[in-house]
This record gives sequence, structure tokens and C-alpha cells, in this order.
Amino acid sequence: MSNQDQDNLTDHEYDGIREYDNKLPIWWLATFIGTVIFAFIYWLHYEFAGGPDLQAELKIEMEQLQEKTGGHGHDHGTAVAVSEEELLKLMTSADTVSNGKLAFTGKCASCHGDQLQGLIGPNLVDEYWIHGKGSLSEIHTVVSQGVPEKGMPAWGAMLKEDEIKSIVAYIGSQKGSNPANPKAPQGEKVVNN
Ligand code: HEC
Repeated sequence: MSNQDQDNLTDHEYDGIREYDNKLPIWWLATFIGTVIFAFIYWLHYEFAGGPDLQAELKIEMEQLQEKTGGHGHDHGTAVAVSEEELLKLMTSADTVSNGKLAFTGKCASCHGDQLQGLIGPNLVDEYWIHGKGSLSEIHTVVSQGVPEKGMPAWGAMLKEDEIKSIVAYIGSQKGSNPANPKAPQGEKVVNN
């Protein structure tokens, strides 16, 4: 061992193991001091300067989500009511109805049948309804909110509002279509519907 090395050795020793007193590289020191400063500012910000805590951050993000999804979000039960008139008017637009048909075939037919005759879910073109009396606004509500406990998904959280309206218009346009092999009626028979 040279004298130079001897000089750089620290004077403690553990079981014969000794340690050089080397200078720390600048990049390492800078990073280290940087993290200390960062931690201090972070602590000041969140403990004293009113930085949002996790709960508050979650709340802010949920509110942003609500805004994006037009008040639907995952907040079951807050679907915007849509007027019967608006939906009836959409039913007269061939474009809307054909968009609705396309969406229905992709999202709903697997459970309600491609003729709406019912499969896992109920027939949507007969006179029997479990939820409401088959008005377009009632259909809109059940489609948006779903019946999760019965296996009907809440589409308000998954589809755009316009898409839901067009699907409802399509369902309305198919009323009384009398498809082959209909599912047995479910719910209450609605008279004068
Ligand atoms: C995973 C299967 C499934 C899918 C997919 C599904 N549904 Fe349903 N749907 C159901 C079931 C099951 C019910 C019956 C709920 C109950 O018993 O209360 C139902 C009920 C309904 C009702 C109310 C019927 C009534 O008699 O009151 C409407 C309207 C409806 N669905 C529309 C749709 C639309 C529109 C879509 C596509 C956007 C869709 N459903 C997708 C399973 C499904």
C-alpha cells in the first residue's frame, strides 16, 4: 500500500475492513442534495401550503370525469332526464335510427337479440316492461343507469349520450315489429302503449 493510499484511509476499522475517504463525485452530491431540497419543498407544500391531499385529489379527478361524461360518470343514478319529445323527434331521423341500430347490434344484441326479440335480456319490442311502461324516456333511463344486479349494464358510464339516444330511438322505431321466436314476456303488460 502506498503512502498516498494510507493518507486516504479513514481511521475506523471493522474486523480488518477499512475504508478510503474518497471525495464524492460531483454528480452524485448534486443529485443527493437535490433530493433533499425536493423533499423539503414537497413537505412544505403538502403539509403547510395547502397542497391537496390524496382524498382531495381524488375528488377533483372524479369531478373532472363527471364533467367529461356529461354528469354520468360512474355515479349510478344521476342520469340526465331526457324529454320524451326530444327522443320522439330523434326517432324520425333516419340517420339517427340507423346509427342506433349499428350501436345496438354491437352492444346490446348479444343479450337482447338482433331483432330485439329478447335472449338473456327481455324482449324490447313487446308490450311487457319490467322498468317503466316502455316510454322512450323510461327506456333512456334504464339504459343509462342499467340494472347491474340483474345483469343489465349501466351504459351511461360507457357510451356517449348521443349514442344512447340514438339506440333508444332505434328501439322505439322497432316497436311492434313482431320478430320471430320472441322471448316469453317479462314484467307488466302495458295497455295503450
Ligand atoms: C349482458 C347482457 C345485457 C346487455 C349487453 C344489455 N342488456 Fe339490457 N337487459 C339485460 C337484462 C338481464 C335485463 C333485465 C333486467 C331486469 O330484470 O331488471 C335488461 C333490461 C333492459 C331494458 C329494460 C327492459 C324492461 O322490460 O324494462 C332495456 C330497455 C334494455 N335492457 C336495453 C339495453 C340496451 C339498449 C343495451 C345496449 C346498449 C342493453 N340493454 C345491453 C341484459 C343486457
